[in-house]
Amino acid sequence: MKPVKVGICGLGTVGSGTFNVLTRNSESITARTGRPIIIEQVGTRRGNPTCDTSRTSVTTDIFDVARNPDIDIVVELIGGYDVAKDLILTAISNGKHVVTANKALIAEHGNEIFHAARENNVIVAYEAAVAGGIPVIKTLREGLSANDVNWLAGIINGTGNFILTEMGDKNRPFEEVLKEAQELGYAEADPTFDVEGIDACHKLTIMASIAFGMPLQFNKAFTEGISQVTPGDIQYAEELGYRIKHLGISRKTTKGVELRVHPALIPADRPMANINGVLNSVVINADAIGETMLVGPGAGAEPTASSVVADIIDIARNLETPQSMPFPLGYSSDAMQPVEVLSVDEIECAYYLRIHVNDHPGVITALSSVLGENNINISAMTQKAGREHDMHADVVILTETVRESVMKQALTKIEALQDVQSPVAHIRVEALS
Ligand code: HSE
Repeated sequence: MKPVKVGICGLGTVGSGTFNVLTRNSESITARTGRPIIIEQVGTRRGNPTCDTSRTSVTTDIFDVARNPDIDIVVELIGGYDVAKDLILTAISNGKHVVTANKALIAEHGNEIFHAARENNVIVAYEAAVAGGIPVIKTLREGLSANDVNWLAGIINGTGNFILTEMGDKNRPFEEVLKEAQELGYAEADPTFDVEGIDACHKLTIMASIAFGMPLQFNKAFTEGISQVTPGDIQYAEELGYRIKHLGISRKTTKGVELRVHPALIPADRPMANINGVLNSVVINADAIGETMLVGPGAGAEPTASSVVADIIDIARNLETPQSMPFPLGYSSDAMQPVEVLSVDEIECAYYLRIHVNDHPGVITALSSVLGENNINISAMTQKAGREHDMHADVVILTETVRESVMKQALTKIEALQDVQSPVAHIRVEALS
């Protein structure tokens, strides 16, 4: 049996996991593939103490791997934009199939990369780019291909979920938990990608394209991070029967598709409200299946390697017995629709507001007047005495559903009130139904 030869570029967290899973499980992988898969070459500037590369050819120039005539599949695990894109396009033009975990690159340059792959008749697979070890790409693209998707929502950044969970459960400060997430290898090289929602938005962009048959449109998505969420918000939300999660949501409406990442209050009895720590989860609501939920590790060396290696096996099987592979985004390129992505101003949802006020008579009346004038209905309201006992108080309000643009106008007026300290904390509420 002629082996399928793989070149791994990058031996960091995911690269080392991929090296070790491919090596450790080589026997069962051969049985599943029908051919052995061997690591022909590794491209890395630095070794990794968890990998024994003593019997593998190692080069410090990753482009050697992309051009190596013996290699069938190039695995891009260096991350980032320019060099990774160059590497993938070089591999494609040299007739190599590509496996990548690079969500930023797929979300922002995937249309171009898939076009190049089509022109060169090679496969670009990217299961590991979304939700680490959870096979959500295959689920959306293959398992649910009979469905018309209504909406999907996910906790798709492990670092962010880990931070919110630790802040809520153990009252730990944001910075301390973020540092721990970095040490555990969950966080991106630039952790602002995690905490500001950019990483989740990359993943949401990819899932939405597969769900709704539209080109990747990362630049139209709305993104808001978790750095403004306080332990107080988490506690107030709990008291109201909600948990705060960092969600990516994409929903098909009659006017277009919503594509948004932001913190959200979820009713505490929804399964997704109970996905904690570094776990990721995606709920997909579609016409035939109704609702399905995936849960699993969204980051880490071997969970992510599980998806990388599954893609390698898929391609190796296809080399053994050629068959039609799925279109990268699940639709043929000429069937993709340029669906409009809605501005966040057009979305409608309920809101949690935390308003820090001077504890004077008439403040609540002033607040409720502004909301009433804007036709915003209050569904719950409480006042919490100031923690510092300094004549300040937090007024916490849950509203009924309102259009975002109307809520923004009301917030501007509330922030202009004499007894209100600006800015007003506001978090969207998602019932996930
Ligand atoms: N930084 C990412 C996360 C890693 O925390 O989810 C997986 O994409």
